[in-house]
Amino acid sequence: MDGLKSQQSTPAESKSTDTERISISLKKTLLKEFEKKIDQNGTYSNRSEAIRDLIRDYLVKEEWKTNEEVVGALIYLHDHHETEAITKIQHGHHANVLSTMHIHLDERLCVEVTIVRGRAHDIQELADRLKSVSKHLELAMTSTGMKF
Ligand code: NI
Repeated sequence: MDGLKSQQSTPAESKSTDTERISISLKKTLLKEFEKKIDQNGTYSNRSEAIRDLIRDYLVKEEWKTNEEVVGALIYLHDHHETEAITKIQHGHHANVLSTMHIHLDERLCVEVTIVRGRAHDIQELADRLKSVSKHLELAMTSTGMKF
């Protein structure tokens, strides 16, 4: 009975079971510069929020680096005459292509946005293939968000 009782948490603890408070040591100049930038950008209302985002950025980069399942967006500018080649490449990666939007920019140029999901190496391979028939391509990397 005593064992059971000691496992029960107090109301204050149970409020934040999925959050853990940590303390970290930083060089004063590093902290000062960090806080200065946060103030200038005005994106964050507190340091914890900024640090949480930095940790998430790191975790997303690691997911891509270690070939985990990821989500991304490809935006690529191409000549209309390459549309058939692009469709063929997309069919070759049909398991990774979630959705594509095609915009006719003018008589000759097109821009496409493709949302992708799959192993990082497969997504990178798809991006490289599309890039080879595009004028310009950008790959935005994000996560499935399943782990954090
Ligand atoms: Ni077009």
